[in-house]
Amino acid sequence: MLNTVIQLYPLPAAERPLTNLYLHHNLRRLNQSSGLPFVYANFVVSLDGRIAIPHPAGHSLTVPKAIANDRDWRLFQELTAQADIIISSGRYLRDYADGRAQEILQTDDPRFADLRTWREEQGLAPLPDLAIISGSLNFPIPDILTAAGRRVVIFTTANPDPQRVRELETHAGQVIVAGDDITVDGAQMVQSLHDLGYRTIYSAAGPRVLHLLLQSGVLNRLYLTYANRLLGGFPFAAIVEGQTFPTAVGMTLHSLYHDPQALDGLGQLFAAYNHA
Ligand SMILES: NC(=O)c1ccc[n+]([C@@H]2O[C@H](COP(=O)([O-])OP(=O)(O)OC[C@H]3O[C@@H](n4cnc5c(N)ncnc54)[C@H](OP(=O)(O)O)[C@@H]3O)[C@@H](O)[C@H]2O)c1
Repeated sequence: MLNTVIQLYPLPAAERPLTNLYLHHNLRRLNQSSGLPFVYANFVVSLDGRIAIPHPAGHSLTVPKAIANDRDWRLFQELTAQADIIISSGRYLRDYADGRAQEILQTDDPRFADLRTWREEQGLAPLPDLAIISGSLNFPIPDILTAAGRRVVIFTTANPDPQRVRELETHAGQVIVAGDDITVDGAQMVQSLHDLGYRTIYSAAGPRVLHLLLQSGVLNRLYLTYANRLLGGFPFAAIVEGQTFPTAVGMTLHSLYHDPQALDGLGQLFAAYNHA
């Protein structure tokens, strides 16, 4: 496996090692003039815009096997390794409890031992903390929520069931109301995370969470891997789902790499965009 990609932007074009490509984006050093945390998200997407399709076993949606690949997974791990805290969702905890999801940063996988060392060198805990977004608060409390030394913050909508909040605060972590009865508000959530001391926030969640981050204007960078396959089919999830934004969200290209080795030689593009 050739471990290089071709940088197409910024110019001039150049061959670059795949390993550490995104670690070298130095996300922990990007300071915001606002003083607020740096927030980034990532998706692997088919050329026809699908990030998730029905699970073969008929349970909800899942990342399509035809586009998931080791080279994208390496860069996903590099993005995760740079985070103080990962945003995930009630859906993730339900899938985890059913054995359909895994720990997001794979520190025990020997392929990513270097990322574990890198975190140690930065003075970071082996695993980032977890921010869970859930309106329903309807999820089991799996052991990943209580792994040693990990802090969990759960963001929910207004007027949550007080008994459920007590239960979660006893067994999982702090529950914070951020938003109205309908939706968690991204700006309130990011302000709370800032107040708790977080500076680098990675959203590994899905299209509704991306919508709330964009709606509130708190997303700083979007990483997209365009896998060179088309899938068709219905239903499916795209990268963002929710109401039309009152004003279209503008992004500028930060970087673009061609990875011709991926997917048995079909290739893929690694693109990153900054919020304009
Ligand atoms: N291809 C990729 O790179 C990629 C990346 C991420 C996800 N995915 C896939 O995409 C599919 C959908 O992901 P997902 O279900 O995690 O995404 P999601 O649509 O972002 O939302 C998941 C859960 O988060 C909570 N939530 C979302 N928006 C909320 C809001 N505004 N207010 C309150 N709670 C909110 C809800 O939890 P409650 O139901 O508990 O209220 C909701 O069920 C999954 O199959 C996943 O595997 C693919």
